[in-house]
Amino acid sequence: MKGKAEVFQQIINAVHDHAARTSDLDALQRFLVELIAAKLPCYDWVGFYMIDPRDPGMLVLGPFRGAPTEHVRIPLTRGICGAAAAQGITLIVDDVRAGPRYLACSLETRSEIVVPIRTAGRVVGEIDIDSHTPAAFGGEDRAFLEACSALIGDFMAARAG
Ligand code: SME
Repeated sequence: MKGKAEVFQQIINAVHDHAARTSDLDALQRFLVELIAAKLPCYDWVGFYMIDPRDPGMLVLGPFRGAPTEHVRIPLTRGICGAAAAQGITLIVDDVRAGPRYLACSLETRSEIVVPIRTAGRVVGEIDIDSHTPAAFGGEDRAFLEACSALIGDFMAARAG
């Protein structure tokens, strides 16, 4: 069986290659979501929330894989998703039940990581991952997801430029 680091690198390489072959952000996001969901069993919900260009105080659900969520629009003032985007920092929550901030997507969720996506220094969205496993996300996951978010941010910057 492949180690986690090897799987992370494989995903990053595949997304990098795919980014060179498409100009469609939605298609690239779907590619990443599907690949992560297929390769990483602990990542039970995988999705994008993007800042609404017409309402910069609001996140809008993008491509995702996992249980359907009622949280299709999240104000930057709400949830772990809102906090990560508003502060522009990666947030890792080992036990989502321990704090008041969490907006429940699935009752099975135990831990969550949210990683902002930046274009030219500005937060334009984020990658959100939920796990049914408590404390599923550590430094390796964070580095991996920050690399994924940098690929998406660079892709958006190149498209805009
Ligand atoms: N848990 C997130 C909301 C998004 S759903 O989990 C998909 C939050 O607390 O912001």
